[in-house]
Amino acid sequence: MATRRLAIKVRRAEPRDAEAMHATFSAPNAQAGTLQMPLPSVEVWRKRLSDVAATDYLLVAEVDGVVVGNLGLHAASSSPRRKHAASIGMSVRDDWHNRGVGSALMNAALDIADNWHNYLRLELTVYTDNAAALTLYRKFGFEIEGTLKDYAFRDGRYIDAYTMARLRSAPMATRPSTTKSTKKGLETHRKATKTARKRTSP
Ligand SMILES: CC(C)(COP(=O)(O)OP(=O)(O)OC[C@H]1O[C@@H](n2cnc3c(N)ncnc32)[C@H](O)[C@@H]1OP(=O)(O)O)[C@@H](O)C(=O)NCCC(=O)NCCS
Repeated sequence: MATRRLAIKVRRAEPRDAEAMHATFSAPNAQAGTLQMPLPSVEVWRKRLSDVAATDYLLVAEVDGVVVGNLGLHAASSSPRRKHAASIGMSVRDDWHNRGVGSALMNAALDIADNWHNYLRLELTVYTDNAAALTLYRKFGFEIEGTLKDYAFRDGRYIDAYTMARLRSAPMATRPSTTKSTKKGLETHRKATKTARKRTSP
């Protein structure tokens, strides 16, 4: 389909993107699929975009210079024990759905997460009735881990959400360290392995 070959540029969001964020979150599907409230304010978005934490990435997707979607990649916690985990939230402008914008944003986020931050666990929540988002997340390796009952209030009633995650194993270091203590450690390990082999050989 020709629409799949759109030139989609993904870049970091800037304060000047406040109007575009406002436009995205003013639409009903973007509100229904996220935790955003109706009647968003441009000024609030300008403030949010001016104050993004260093560990967070707020990305936007542009087509012909127009911002049509956004994705946030956030460190999951400030605890050192959760430094391997990050969370994702995203939205594409209602009139741009199903044209590959969400996939372009997810590809860019996974490149940062996998190849630069080395996040091993990516987490997100998605309403159980959000079929398009579920398709997209499954396509990129996210799996459902559980159901959060009455997770959020939406348009007059409570709605369940799935918690999903994408897990990746840590890449191996390619060069062994050459520090003295490591060399000594390796030598001790080799000797111990040799002794253990002798003991266990028939
Ligand atoms: C979820 C969302 C970000 C996807 O963005 P998008 O630009 O439409 O994503 P893409 O076009 O890259 O991919 C959408 C996929 O969903 C599929 N899809 C669309 N509607 C679907 C449906 N009703 N049932 C199943 N799959 C569906 C498309 O076919 C496509 O899959 P494919 O790439 O295998 O063809 C977008 O729908 C959105 O912003 N929704 C409102 C806000 C929201 O729900 N955010 C997610 C919060 S968890």
